[in-house]
Amino acid sequence: MTTAATSTRSVLAQRFKQRLKPFMPAWVLKFHRNRAIRREGSLYEGKSLGEVFTHVYQTGGWGLAADESGFYSGSSSHDPKIVDPYVKAVTAYLGAMPERPAVVDLGCGDFNVGKRIRPVCGPYIGCDVVDAAVQSNRTRFADLNVDFRCVDITTDPLPPGDIVILRQVLDHLDNARIVTVLSKLAPYKVLILTEYQPLNTNFTPNLDKAIGSHLRLFGPVPSGLVLTAPPFNLKVLSARILCEVPDSGGVIRTIAYELSGR
Ligand SMILES: C[S@@+](CC[C@H](N)C(=O)[O-])C[C@H]1O[C@@H](n2cnc3c(N)ncnc32)[C@H](O)[C@@H]1O
Repeated sequence: MTTAATSTRSVLAQRFKQRLKPFMPAWVLKFHRNRAIRREGSLYEGKSLGEVFTHVYQTGGWGLAADESGFYSGSSSHDPKIVDPYVKAVTAYLGAMPERPAVVDLGCGDFNVGKRIRPVCGPYIGCDVVDAAVQSNRTRFADLNVDFRCVDITTDPLPPGDIVILRQVLDHLDNARIVTVLSKLAPYKVLILTEYQPLNTNFTPNLDKAIGSHLRLFGPVPSGLVLTAPPFNLKVLSARILCEVPDSGGVIRTIAYELSGR
């Protein structure tokens, strides 16, 4: 079977699953998630991150785009119940700065969220490892004056700026790659991080996982990223929760970390 045919089959299967999802009992959802996690683990072994996340987009791993773009970064990048509070909180935070900050958005995805933050920012650089998504953003958001770049944040140098945004990116990477990204954040003043965490605050943070579309929240033992905890131990001057939205049995937490420059 050709790659195109395989991709079309995956997209149709994904569309079918999306329709059924609201009617599936929790144990069926968990069974399917576990199977998908196992499959992704072997499928992506030895692949570059560009190949991995291109495949995630092509097969609708985060859902399917309703428009012609073909890129859909997930319901948590589109659901107004999740995106609106985020935009309100981050806009208020950035808008209160004495000058419009230079923003670097790492893993900007389909830019459905970034486009709403853009107005309160100075220069804006949007980076993603999926070249076709970057090119699509350049066309679709040509009027927003954003410098879209194809960058692998784990291996490439990061562009300069005041504020770095990482919204639902790191949880798709394994711990070793997260360490390399964090080692490059010192030049920024503030990191605005958004990730899922379990609702139960007694969870073990930072359990390792394979790269892919899935989240630590849905691993065999539910977990989530806490960058200030081991093994990452990110050094920060302050941490301020900007917003929290419950979703999918967890909470999507956005934190502004003032970085210590070390
Ligand atoms: C779930 S999407 C989130 C997109 C966007 N931040 C948002 O909140 O709507 C994760 C994005 O991170 C990108 N990504 C993952 N690993 C990356 C890497 N190493 N370098 C750059 N982008 C990466 C993926 O291609 C994808 O577009």
